[in-house]
Amino acid sequence: MVLPRTMPRQPDQSPARPSLKPAPRDRLIVALDLPSLAAADAMIERLGDAVTFYKIGYQLGFAGGLELAQTLIRSGKRIFLDMKLHDIGHTVARGVESVARMGATFLTVHAYPQTMRAAAEARAGSALRLLAVTVLTSYDDLDLNEAGYTIGVDDLVARRAAQAQEIGMDGLVCSAEEASALRLLVGDMTLVTPGIRPAGLARGDQKRVTTPARAITEGVDYLVVGRPIIEASDPAAMANAIVAEIATAAT
Ligand code: C5P
Repeated sequence: MVLPRTMPRQPDQSPARPSLKPAPRDRLIVALDLPSLAAADAMIERLGDAVTFYKIGYQLGFAGGLELAQTLIRSGKRIFLDMKLHDIGHTVARGVESVARMGATFLTVHAYPQTMRAAAEARAGSALRLLAVTVLTSYDDLDLNEAGYTIGVDDLVARRAAQAQEIGMDGLVCSAEEASALRLLVGDMTLVTPGIRPAGLARGDQKRVTTPARAITEGVDYLVVGRPIIEASDPAAMANAIVAEIATAAT
């Protein structure tokens, strides 16, 4: 992405700044992209203590995954609800209140200013952290043009990232390639990145992929990993290998 023309906040460049990063294992978020509760339960059982943080999206969410999320939270796991909310402000706010009551850690909302303001106001006082989705990674400049936008992806990502910070979002979902430029723009906001593939693994339908180590060195805070773990012959071993790669890259 292109660096923005205006920078609302400069990053803290003090060398003495202490690291506030979570432990390597807590930086791995496993996407439970599975079709049923039975499949999710079996995967969670196999992963055991190797995984502390799960992402639940549409597929599992609409197949009983919201109840599972609450069970996992009660058992001490953390939950990222990837619901990418976008609606009139009143509806977004009521939805965010319900998610905050569940005890989820992260929730995604689309980075439209009205939507973000409603979400930020509704979660006030809760531990819920809001992640803004700037521009979906499946969109290129032509897709934006088709949807009526007159600016391209880079400019829209930069504009929405700045707005997300201004409005009080906690973090952004971004690709690892965008991370270092976004870091300059948004300072210490949390950066969460999918599209992670350990070296040598199949890319699936992800066009732009990054290794766990590269994502960490680019400044990403949390890595979202789905198929490399849930389709592995030994999911816990794969999760442990990724955590080890995070730990090495973070030192
Ligand atoms: O299986 P894989 O590791 O590709 O899963 C990545 C996860 O991250 C999926 O749940 C997908 O929906 C999500 N995601 C993504 N790209 C984005 C935003 C979310 O792949 N831009």
